Amino acid sequence: MGTLIKGGTVVTSTATFLADVLMEGETIREVRAGIDTAGHTVLDASGMLVMPGGIDVHTHLDMPFGGTTSADDYEWGTRAAAIGGTTTVIDFALQTMGKRMQEAYTVWRAKSEGKACIDYGLHMAVTDLGEDGAWIDDVDALVREGITSFKIFMAYPGVLMVDDATIFHLMQRTSKLGALVCVHAENGTVIDAIVHDALAEGKTGPLYHALTRPTVAEAEAVHRVVALSELAGASVYIVHVSSEDAMREVEAARKRALPVMGETCTQYLVLSIEDDMGKPGFEDAKYVFTPPLREKKNQGPLWKALGEDVLQVVSTDHCPFRFADQKTLGVGNFTKIPNGGPGVENRMQLMFQHGVNEGRMSLERFVAVTAEAPAKIFGMYPKKGVIAAGSDADILIWDPKAEYTIEAATHSMHTDYSIFEGFKVTGNVRQVFSRGELVVEGGKFVGAVGRGRYLQRAIGETL
Ligand code: URP
Ligand code: ZN
Ligand code: ZN
Repeated sequence: MGTLIKGGTVVTSTATFLADVLMEGETIREVRAGIDTAGHTVLDASGMLVMPGGIDVHTHLDMPFGGTTSADDYEWGTRAAAIGGTTTVIDFALQTMGKRMQEAYTVWRAKSEGKACIDYGLHMAVTDLGEDGAWIDDVDALVREGITSFKIFMAYPGVLMVDDATIFHLMQRTSKLGALVCVHAENGTVIDAIVHDALAEGKTGPLYHALTRPTVAEAEAVHRVVALSELAGASVYIVHVSSEDAMREVEAARKRALPVMGETCTQYLVLSIEDDMGKPGFEDAKYVFTPPLREKKNQGPLWKALGEDVLQVVSTDHCPFRFADQKTLGVGNFTKIPNGGPGVENRMQLMFQHGVNEGRMSLERFVAVTAEAPAKIFGMYPKKGVIAAGSDADILIWDPKAEYTIEAATHSMHTDYSIFEGFKVTGNVRQVFSRGELVVEGGKFVGAVGRGRYLQRAIGETL
């Protein structure tokens, strides 16, 4: 009657134990050792880890940005996510300045309709609250549509950046509703001044993208937005924390018991200026994303912060652009390089290798930062993010011994390069179930395109 995953090792954020998992329809029916096989389709999972499907809460699919559009649409981006063991993404609907947020919601639902391969939610990236904040009630309307997190940019002046008053007004409303404000924290105007000077000095190559965005500009913005959230009584979540300086600000806020949370991304944990930039020609453009790669000394503190719950989540900020015809828009002027990199397919592999295998985090913490905490913070728990009776059967059957080399030649994302090219990992997806349906087997997506559902998210938890 159901599908029985037999003999695997189940991992949750608090325990690792031998147990069978019975799926019936779209949900998990039972989790315990020794479930009778009679009447069920049996899948032998001996030697495998059985974990909740990954949740990547930071993707930019089919998003117009930097004079072009991110290279993965909903079909390609969510297919690549599934192949890499992620069964839920939360993508950003981006409000156009001068237009209402509901319009962005409609546009993003249309982008995903008939295309999403796995379940997905939306954050709203707020760029305009209308004259004198006239559109603030749109926040309430969107919460009713299941958008319970609102992103603001303190960077990209003239494009996406909002001022402190707008942030404060938004926070006053989200705090009433219990919704969350997600923050791209960088001091955009100061960075623009540094960029202006660099260009005037003829520093136009892609490495200068990284060198003109100091970690202190990130830390200053985190500090400021924490102060604004304290004034408004709001919960905040700092996205893509890339440096020790910024992380320390999150840590300081949490020490004061403020409702401040944060994520880092795979690229900041395993790549650095020293190891990955400074390449000849225009190659460094592959690593132009924002915040930029940092000096290697930041990696240790970020791993530690993730392990010790200073940061709660690891995401990818998947915002892919092809090298050949998109990154090259910035030849001769790094400010014209579309900002973003591909990664949604590799998060689970890289976190398993560099986190679990290399002793930086336990298996339980791996599950916490890749699935359970994202589900809790973003209002999807216990439907998503856990292997438990009653939850959606979003299940990852993970072979901890499988060896794999990351390469653009074989990845599913629509980019002609990988920022993790040549990285070797041990541990990879064997099968993926999404709401009880086998969607990945043999490294291929075997589900139907468009089967993914929009997630009407509830108000999340503060962790
Ligand atoms: O470079 C990036 N990260 N592009 C996407 C937009 C953002 O800032 O998250
Ligand atoms: Zn950002
Ligand atoms: Zn982003």
